[in-house]
Amino acid sequence: MGLPQPAFYIFKCEQSSPPGMPKPSCVNPHTQDIFQHLAQTLMQKGLIATVQPIRTSCMNRCNVGPIMLVEPGHVMYAGLTKEKINEIIDRHIIGGEVVQEYVIPAELWDAPITPADMMKQMGR
Ligand code: FES
Repeated sequence: MGLPQPAFYIFKCEQSSPPGMPKPSCVNPHTQDIFQHLAQTLMQKGLIATVQPIRTSCMNRCNVGPIMLVEPGHVMYAGLTKEKINEIIDRHIIGGEVVQEYVIPAELWDAPITPADMMKQMGR
């Protein structure tokens, strides 16, 4: 039997925009330990080999940060806190049910456009 691949990847935006920049930041003094909390909780539950947390840069949804993307599923969670992360791990990652109350609003995260359709829209 081969080495199993992870069941989930969790991409947590770790961008911190400098003070005075128009966009709010996904990482500020109140939220800077959220990634560590996510990784530690997965470790404590014995899930780290099958649920891989990954630090990313900006995913262009800064105004509702802190955000993270759960794959598979393209599920983007917004306005994160440690408490929300605990719930997302229990209900979504372990329980298999998307936590709708913390999902980013649809107007900010609509259905994806396929690359082929994008090229058609651009007239290429
Ligand atoms: S800084 Fe996190 S989405 Fe832009």
